[in-house]
Amino acid sequence: MRNDSTKTAEWEDDGIEVMVADASHEVYVDTILETISDSARKRGSGIATRTHDYLATKMRERKAIIALAGPEREFAGFCYIESWGNKSFVANSGLIVVEKFRKHHLATRIKRTAFTLSRLRWPEAKLFGLTSQAAVMKINTSLGYVPVTFAELTDDEAYWRGCGTPEHPCCQNYDILVRTGRKYCICTGMLYDPADHVGEPLPVELPEEVIKDLENRV
Ligand SMILES: CC(C)(COP(=O)(O)OP(=O)(O)OC[C@H]1O[C@@H](n2cnc3c(N)ncnc32)[C@H](O)[C@@H]1OP(=O)(O)O)[C@@H](O)C(=O)NCCC(=O)NCCS
Repeated sequence: MRNDSTKTAEWEDDGIEVMVADASHEVYVDTILETISDSARKRGSGIATRTHDYLATKMRERKAIIALAGPEREFAGFCYIESWGNKSFVANSGLIVVEKFRKHHLATRIKRTAFTLSRLRWPEAKLFGLTSQAAVMKINTSLGYVPVTFAELTDDEAYWRGCGTPEHPCCQNYDILVRTGRKYCICTGMLYDPADHVGEPLPVELPEEVIKDLENRV
């Protein structure tokens, strides 16, 4: 069944399916990890290190979005969802689109799907992200996120460890974060507060099978 409900008239049918991942997608995990680290290397940027097990678990828990292209189901894009601060904050992380599929609104479709899944699963949570990418800022803005200071983001130490620790800086800019006492860095913090968007419709419709699955999960 095609469950790419993000397809709308504004995007031609490019044969790319965007869906909530499940255990069957674990076969893509190594490709995803390689694509993320290749891209970070090319950009000369740091990236939070994720293991095979971590991403496979995200898929099994239905906390990941995957995009597959064409009848060969070639890997095209990915992101996953993490909750922080006792589920009061939710972040969509690890966004990646394979180079040849970029600039065709695939990241937009992936983020819209992740946003919808996050809103349905944790309706009270604030959604947030840290990014230095103009494309991601644009997408977040279209979803209702606004730029905020870091003080408004989660204070969950586990989240911030994703940027690094003194022993293992993950991002090349980690020293800036430390120097500013975690107040500022190269990335912009963006926040979606559900209290500011009461009654607004979600950007995509998820398949019934995903909604049913959500009801059985915390
Ligand atoms: C960032 C990334 C996910 C964007 O993927 P994409 O599929 O090309 O993005 P989209 O086509 O959905 O673009 C969304 C918007 O940003 C714009 N955009 C895309 N790439 C851009 C760029 N490099 N600079 C400025 N704007 C850009 C698009 O034109 C679009 O704007 P529009 O809606 O006004 O037309 C992709 O470039 C990527 O995987 N980069 C490497 C990994 C990364 O940086 N991840 C994000 C970590 S926070």
